[in-house]
Amino acid sequence: MLILRCPAQLQLLEETLRKSLPTTLPVLGTVMTVARGNPASHEVLVDSWPNFGIVLTRLRPEEHRDPMDYYTNQLSVFYRDKGALQALLEGTEAVTRERAFQILGMQDELDEAVQEVASARGLKVETIRYRALMSPKPPQPRRQMPPGLRLAAVSPSHIPLLNATWALGGNARSRAFLLGLVRTLPSACLLDRCGRPVSWSLLDGQGCMRHGYTVPAWRGQGLTGLAVAVLGRELYARGFPIYGAVLPHNTPSLRCLQAIGFVPQPGTFYMILGTPK
Ligand SMILES: CC(C)(COP(=O)(O)OP(=O)(O)OC[C@H]1O[C@@H](n2cnc3c(N)ncnc32)[C@H](O)[C@@H]1OP(=O)(O)O)[C@@H](O)C(=O)NCCC(=O)NCCS
Repeated sequence: MLILRCPAQLQLLEETLRKSLPTTLPVLGTVMTVARGNPASHEVLVDSWPNFGIVLTRLRPEEHRDPMDYYTNQLSVFYRDKGALQALLEGTEAVTRERAFQILGMQDELDEAVQEVASARGLKVETIRYRALMSPKPPQPRRQMPPGLRLAAVSPSHIPLLNATWALGGNARSRAFLLGLVRTLPSACLLDRCGRPVSWSLLDGQGCMRHGYTVPAWRGQGLTGLAVAVLGRELYARGFPIYGAVLPHNTPSLRCLQAIGFVPQPGTFYMILGTPK
């Protein structure tokens, strides 16, 4: 595999990936984040250039610190050639027996192939299936900021609350991952008069809006739309796709995003988690 570092190559790749939206969403978002300062320390690999069969983005190997950390060890994959996917998985660039990982992608065969290879290598594998939603223009919140609330970026002091309320979090690794996100990438939250967060949304290294949450007492008032709109405007201004990934049965989240302009996309957004047994 070749590592693409040159801005002109990344730009060309970006243009190519845009033509295959929404399937390329996580890869395109990562490539764009890498090309614009690389705050999440990822790298972009292709099997050949410029006519690639597969693109892999991954955390830079020197950033691997904890072999059991699948939060930080994020990869994303888009392939045009199934043989290239097979070759990638047979090598050691993506899935190794020793390290926990998280692979994101929107192709059904990717899920099947990763499951097969990771299980054969003795990893415990779990797939979470999301629905991707995109907003073609900056999201339009359905209400104005209520009196007594104000907008801010998420601060490191809010991380214990974010971690405790995150369905996939609640442990030391997820805490460190969230801290890394708010230190390096844009985030938005609404604070009450005492400075406590009541609603928030973060951006991740794939350019995906994630970790949307409103504390129960404040739900149903359109507050998530206000936080998401801040991030959406920023993404739009920088030319990024505006997207999020939601569990298909999470009706409040689906309603909230569609009410502000997001459109459900065809296909499945896969998050495949692998951990050494
Ligand atoms: C999904 C979530 C972020 C929505 O936040 P919100 O600020 O309440 O969003 P909205 O006010 O726009 O409400 C969205 C929908 O929530 C539902 N809702 C309304 N009042 C509610 C209440 N009191 N409690 C729970 N859900 C409510 C409704 O379906 C509403 O849609 P509708 O107004 O079209 O009927 C919030 O419910 C939440 O934090 N859930 C737990 C975490 C989560 O699922 N995060 C999303 C990850 S993708």
